[in-house]
Amino acid sequence: MGEITLKVDGREVKGREGDSILDICKANGIHVPTLCHIEGLSAYGACRLCLVEDVKTKKLIPACAISAANGMEILTNSERLRRYRRMIVELLLSERNHFCFFCEKSGDCELQSLAYEFGIDHVRFTSSFNPFPIDSTHDYIVIDNNRCILCGRCLRVCSEIVGNDTIDFVRRGWETTINDPKIIALKESNCISCGACVEVCPTGAIFDRLSAYMGRKEECDAYKTVCIECPMACDLTVYTKDNNIIRICGGSLTGRYGGQLCKRGRFDLLFDGNRERITRPLIQSVEGGVREISFSEAIEKIVSEIKGIKEKFGEDSVAGVISSRCTNEAALIFRELMSRVIGTRNIFVLEPELSLLTYDAIIKFHEGVHKRMWEARSEEILKADKLILVGFDSSEPHPIISSMVRRAVNQKGAKVVYIGSLKKKMPFNVDLQLNLKRGTEEAFFKGVSKIIYSRLLVDRERRSHKEIDLESRLVKKKVEWVTGVEKEKLERFLNYIKEGERGIVITGKDLDPNPSLLNSILVFSALLGRFSDGRLPLISLRSGGNSRGVLDILYPVGVRPLDRDLRDVGIRAAYVMLSDERFLEPAVSARMMNLDFLAVQASFNSNLTLLADVVLPSLTWAEKEGTITDIDGNLRRLNRVIQPPSGLRKDEEIMFELIKGLKTELRYEDLHKKVIELYSTYKEVS
Ligand code: SF4
Ligand code: SF4
Ligand code: SF4
Ligand code: FES
Repeated sequence: MGEITLKVDGREVKGREGDSILDICKANGIHVPTLCHIEGLSAYGACRLCLVEDVKTKKLIPACAISAANGMEILTNSERLRRYRRMIVELLLSERNHFCFFCEKSGDCELQSLAYEFGIDHVRFTSSFNPFPIDSTHDYIVIDNNRCILCGRCLRVCSEIVGNDTIDFVRRGWETTINDPKIIALKESNCISCGACVEVCPTGAIFDRLSAYMGRKEECDAYKTVCIECPMACDLTVYTKDNNIIRICGGSLTGRYGGQLCKRGRFDLLFDGNRERITRPLIQSVEGGVREISFSEAIEKIVSEIKGIKEKFGEDSVAGVISSRCTNEAALIFRELMSRVIGTRNIFVLEPELSLLTYDAIIKFHEGVHKRMWEARSEEILKADKLILVGFDSSEPHPIISSMVRRAVNQKGAKVVYIGSLKKKMPFNVDLQLNLKRGTEEAFFKGVSKIIYSRLLVDRERRSHKEIDLESRLVKKKVEWVTGVEKEKLERFLNYIKEGERGIVITGKDLDPNPSLLNSILVFSALLGRFSDGRLPLISLRSGGNSRGVLDILYPVGVRPLDRDLRDVGIRAAYVMLSDERFLEPAVSARMMNLDFLAVQASFNSNLTLLADVVLPSLTWAEKEGTITDIDGNLRRLNRVIQPPSGLRKDEEIMFELIKGLKTELRYEDLHKKVIELYSTYKEVS
């Protein structure tokens, strides 16, 4: 796009064709007040606050919605404009209930700021006292239409970024509202509680119950970090006051995943304060119950137990177990502690078997080319024209991935094929559902891969059409017989694959943990083609926040899922890096209940800490610093947002004390060097 030049307030400024007048003003540091506009959403042109004056035509035009043209002359702050803007704000203030002292948003409200900016000391119009609907049915979000200025930001974000279309205008003219609980309450709607609408609302018309009246933004400290509840690692802005987290916001609407968060990242993390925190090392006392001990006593006890058991039963009698919420730095030191210092081959990760098998399958798949071909970046979903979901959890679909799928469907017309049985209606339109007989997925992928491969051979003129047609017909018949898929559906599936250019396979946690099934899916995805960055059109969803990073670090020394009673495989003692893990199945803890010695490093009490002989306190996600690796293989920085309780140590420091106690030559500096080396390998990967 070519460069254009215009005059703004007598100053010559430059921009690009297609830029709005507002874009160019912003880029050149010229302030134009706005209200309905927000970067990252479509232009709306509703509030008219951004009116500017076209010098040549004398017309007032909305800067956010009009593209700049070469040679334009614009005024942004004339007396005429100031009068208009003041009147607009006065009308908005008089139209509904804007008594700021009762409003949750007071102090953070954009309408209030504009009133201040224009020096509005009174409103010349009679205030309307018509009551408008309030929807307080939702667990986290309240919509108060009495404070709504109908800017449309909430419905645009819900549609354009979240792809959910939960919110819309109801009625017309002065009666217009955002939804109406009498028609459908937010709680009963398809709302996924992502809170994106809360974040963009400029007034107190949509607010979040948990953070309401806890502190205005300017009274808080704001920290950037990332969410470690799942491998998406969404950007977080965490607001704290007096060392308490009071509000969690997402990233920029123009940034990763459109700045989205899900309910877990935005709201559930606020409940951490309700969990029973471990702040001191604890030991099971002989009289029963636990008692507090010092760090050095705890380290001494763990060292002597591990040494004793190792001497008596060998290195492999000691196991290391790690949560996939740990940072890369903690995982690296854990690896050195287990494999080099203790020398055990029994290292387990708290991740489902499927996650490890998928990781293993991808690495093995590419062994032949001596290069790790990673899965596609998640943002490729937005560009896909067909999405093939296999084992995708329909009872609890991943919120951000689902929203990307919805956007691909709604905005790009992508087709969705769902392979498996649907437990619930998916939060996006499914074009084709293939209900295969249980256990026949592998046969399905092998069969369709064979057909696609044959077509490729025809394309390359290596086989005749007739020959291939015959063979394909036979394979199709076999696929139908074995998998139970209907003929017409199989044909539609094969046609989807043939048409279009960008297909992506997304595998979920309901997939069978079967290596040959995973391999057949990898072959199928490779046949769909590669992306320009060489990545496979495949995304596999994992659960742990740093599952990718922890597996990258532990895979080379051998790591397994914790799927059996440890004592049954000759293990006598275990050291568990549980960190602030929140979903610990009782069955997982039960697999460690028959050990001679169990040490657990954890932030919160759980069924596992109850079993432990020694418990060491661990920092939470909000207190830690370090890196994690996201679903795309990028290193993301986890920053400390609140101070830990006094005396608590970093996970790495505790493990280093153990390394020292176990008397090895490993030095902390050398370990730190390894962390740095690890970063450089990540750069290649991501
Ligand atoms: S919380 Fe999310 S899904 Fe629900 S209405 Fe707001 S933006 Fe839409
Ligand atoms: S609820 Fe908020 S974001 Fe939505 S239209 Fe009203 S003022 Fe705008
Ligand atoms: S999608 Fe994952 S990373 Fe993003 S907010 Fe939700 S839990 Fe956190
Ligand atoms: S900001 Fe331009 S019309 Fe509202």
